[in-house]
Amino acid sequence: MTSDAYAHVKFLREQLNHHAHQYYVLDAPSIPDAEYDRLFKQLQALEAANPECISPDSPTQRVGAKPLKEFAAVRHVVPMLSIRTETDTESSGAQAFDARLKRELALTGADAPIEYVAELKFDGLAINLRYEKGVLVQACTRGDGETGEDVTNNIRTIHQIPLRLKPQLPIPDVLEVRGEVYMRRDDFEALNERQRQRIAQGEKNEKTFVNPRNAAAGAVRQLDSAIAAQRPLSFFGYGLGEVVLGESGLSPFTTHWQWLEAFKAWGLPVSEHIAIAQGADQLVAYHQRMGAMRDALPFDIDGVVYKVNRIAQQQRLGFVTREPRWAVAHKYPAQEQITTVLAIDVHVGRTGKLTPVAKLAPVFVGGVTVTNATLHNEDEARRKDVRLGDTVVVRRAGDVIPEVVSVVEGKRQADATLFTMPHQCPVCGSAAVREAGEADYRCTGGLFCSAQRKQAILHYAQRRAVEIEGLGDKLVEQLVDTGTIRTLPDLYKLGLSTLAQLDRMAEKSAFNIVQALEKSKSTTLPRFLFGLGIRHVGEATAKELAKHFGTLDALMDAPLEVLQQVNDIGPIVAQSLRTFFDQPHNREVVEQLRACGVHWTEGVASGATQQLFAGKTFVLTGTLPSLSRDAAKEKIEAAGGKVAGSVSKRTHFVVAGTEAGSKLDKAVELGVPVLDETALLEMLNAGT
Ligand code: IVH
Repeated sequence: MTSDAYAHVKFLREQLNHHAHQYYVLDAPSIPDAEYDRLFKQLQALEAANPECISPDSPTQRVGAKPLKEFAAVRHVVPMLSIRTETDTESSGAQAFDARLKRELALTGADAPIEYVAELKFDGLAINLRYEKGVLVQACTRGDGETGEDVTNNIRTIHQIPLRLKPQLPIPDVLEVRGEVYMRRDDFEALNERQRQRIAQGEKNEKTFVNPRNAAAGAVRQLDSAIAAQRPLSFFGYGLGEVVLGESGLSPFTTHWQWLEAFKAWGLPVSEHIAIAQGADQLVAYHQRMGAMRDALPFDIDGVVYKVNRIAQQQRLGFVTREPRWAVAHKYPAQEQITTVLAIDVHVGRTGKLTPVAKLAPVFVGGVTVTNATLHNEDEARRKDVRLGDTVVVRRAGDVIPEVVSVVEGKRQADATLFTMPHQCPVCGSAAVREAGEADYRCTGGLFCSAQRKQAILHYAQRRAVEIEGLGDKLVEQLVDTGTIRTLPDLYKLGLSTLAQLDRMAEKSAFNIVQALEKSKSTTLPRFLFGLGIRHVGEATAKELAKHFGTLDALMDAPLEVLQQVNDIGPIVAQSLRTFFDQPHNREVVEQLRACGVHWTEGVASGATQQLFAGKTFVLTGTLPSLSRDAAKEKIEAAGGKVAGSVSKRTHFVVAGTEAGSKLDKAVELGVPVLDETALLEMLNAGT
């Protein structure tokens, strides 16, 4: 091989490594994909012509190792420990840990707080990466902590893991980096979608995965690395195994944080959510902050980890059996649990939609006790094939409705029968039909169906609609079941004595409800429209309609073509509006509500106000003296303006209250006019 060709190979590898790092680790692509592919092919061609120059750390060598018969056992030079777990309540976990360490380090109140690094506890599997002279030579699993399995071929397929460390910093002769291999949630969903397609095409040996962790573990333990290469894995580094500084010239680091910084410099991915914490209070704050962020993260975590930052203190603290004394994991409530299906019910929603719901033996999951989990619809229930008596995995993440994720195989009772959707509404007995192209069955009973009536009333009464405070589901259930109310207007005929006669209703509460009903009579057109519960008419659509038509009567009589001219309204929504207002009983409900005194300000905004607001974008920041943020937004929108979340060159006005933050700075910087509440109200009243 000529020295020119060799230099070219070296150049291409450096380029490809650099761009791959930008793309996979930093998430900041530096060249178009096609350009990367071109460089890659060039390198492949050069290597094919000069096979003697192929080296294992070349970017062309990630995939292609032959399938294995079994994994070789690897004895860890430094055992891979686990960490102690605290599952206590919010603060006590961190507080107890910090107190214990202070005692063990003989620190007193006069000493500075202990410095920690707080990290996320990723829900994947631990891997040890061994680099010798900067080249990845081996990757193995934790195993029993003493001996793991050699999964190098599979780990090499993970693009985030450098095959050669970046020499941005001197590189130790031997460096073992420990961290977590995991699968992002979006990658997991896409993988399962592909798996489903394969199964549908008749591929017998394929299956879907229960959760990202299982999918990641399965991929790492594939004997054929060509399969592992198709599973989208990611990696975060968080710890060390054997380190031999050797002749690298690197001076030993004194803190864990410095090691994490060094990992980044060498091109290894480190989570952006690591933080320094001084003492227990800051650990508690981190635990809370990350708990609130948990569901918004692109990957699963099951807790946070606190580590003493100073290596000298770590060494003084040492180890107990298989755990370091200087680190602890503080878990969040699990978001998945296993339980059994006691029954499969069918729930009827406001629009008549039938939802299969699994009744479960109570389990504590995602921080609450769950007894119901949705199966979404017929197809989903069939796909998951959930049957009575089955053992299932349930998931509850954040505020999302609990769902059955999958059935645990091998525990099914022999006589368990397949679930089928009923063809009659389980509440009112009307026919339930599934239209072609729809996923859902719907009860055709309309307001004849008491389930739909209850939901319709709750929808009308909710805070975002006309808001009837205190009218919750238990009360509506009673009112409908006892025949006290049938339709929305009946609500306004409820008197103190009727309410006070109901179960568990004190006079005071009855009085409050009567007052809330009275208050709800004065509303806005968008809230009223939304409250009617017309299919496909959400809050945003209701606002557009109110803005366009100005009055309810104009809207009720608008033909299909006119409805379709409204901003953001397509044929489906337009048709749904027509269907609703073409039914005499729906018009009757509107008339009766009006007769009961329900009213809203009608009419388009006055000409002058419209001119000031039409097409103008406002941004609200800080606390206004009298208007809530929602109220200010409502007023601006009613006058024809828009409210946006962030300030840009296209912002027309910023409305600032007290404690306005960066949005106000930005407005000043861009020269956007800033209004206070008084100025805004003056503008709103300009035409009246
Ligand atoms: S440190 C000596 N840091 O949790 C400390 N572990 O039992 C060794 N894990 O098997 C572990 N995120 O798979 C550490 N930021 C993190 C982690 C983490 C997840 C896992 C790891 C280990 C288990 C601890």
